[in-house]
Amino acid sequence: MAKEGDVLLKVEDVRVELGGRKILDGVSFEIKDRTRPGVTTGQIVALLGPSGVGKTTLLRSLAGLDTPTSGRILGEKDVPLAPGSVGVVFQNYPLLRHRTLLDNLVVAGGIAGLNKSKATDQAKALLQRFGLAEQHRHFPSQLSGGQRQRAAIAQQLMHQRQLLIFDEPFSGLDPAALVDVVEMLVEVANMHDTNTLIIITHDIRAALLCSDLVFMMGRNFSPEGKPISGASIKRTYDLVERGLAWHPHIEQDPRFGALELEIKSAFRSL
Ligand SMILES: Nc1ncnc2c1ncn2[C@@H]1O[C@H](COP(=O)(O)OP(=O)(O)OP(=O)(O)O)[C@@H](O)[C@H]1O
Ligand SMILES: [Mg+2]
Repeated sequence: MAKEGDVLLKVEDVRVELGGRKILDGVSFEIKDRTRPGVTTGQIVALLGPSGVGKTTLLRSLAGLDTPTSGRILGEKDVPLAPGSVGVVFQNYPLLRHRTLLDNLVVAGGIAGLNKSKATDQAKALLQRFGLAEQHRHFPSQLSGGQRQRAAIAQQLMHQRQLLIFDEPFSGLDPAALVDVVEMLVEVANMHDTNTLIIITHDIRAALLCSDLVFMMGRNFSPEGKPISGASIKRTYDLVERGLAWHPHIEQDPRFGALELEIKSAFRSL
């Protein structure tokens, strides 16, 4: 059982080179278990950064899809993350086009080792929970962008994993669908104390709405101030410390708007 302050994910000095180019250099951060008395609270961490800086590259290393050139990625108790222990929701939703929504989830359950009847029960329960029961016979092309995004998240939940990474989960959503997805992410995180969601996004406001920690990634600079190859985590914003952990109507807190402006201006300096 993890307790307050236990490290759930530790990224140590990760460097990734692709095609002879240094993309990531010196990426280090930790995600710790956070608890609140009497409630189950998972962790939601947002990863912000300009386009092309290396966010998806970092995701691929975290998910075990690529091996970093150097550096370490460790889970709880400093044990390296096991292959397949990280769930990823890619931006281009990996739903199977020729299968219905329900079938898509059942297939994912099968891959996770559930038998057909258990997978079907769990799939139906998830679709119900996330407002997709009516669409269970629809094919992916018959879903809206927001419905597809929620379906892709539900698909990942067929497999119980503590670490889930989402690449741009808010893109193409209207404001109402965005709020739905934010609420769904918070609900998923809070299903278990050690659940950790990493959300990669360009949407600063949405990131602040749901996360308790924000990492900002930026290009590296030489001591003389010249841009050099490689990117790393440049700034960390702890929303819990600032009293801005998720709660209803958080966006009405003046500190929320102030932090949004602070991050926007920091973004421009990257
Ligand atoms: N397989 C590859 N070989 C060579 N270079 C690559 C490869 N994949 C990505 N890159 C380069 O690595 C850099 C980082 O790409 P990455 O996709 O991680 O950026 P990103 O931060 O996710 O951007 P965006 O916000 O636009 O999705 C880019 O300059 C890209 O051209
Ligand atoms: Mg990307």
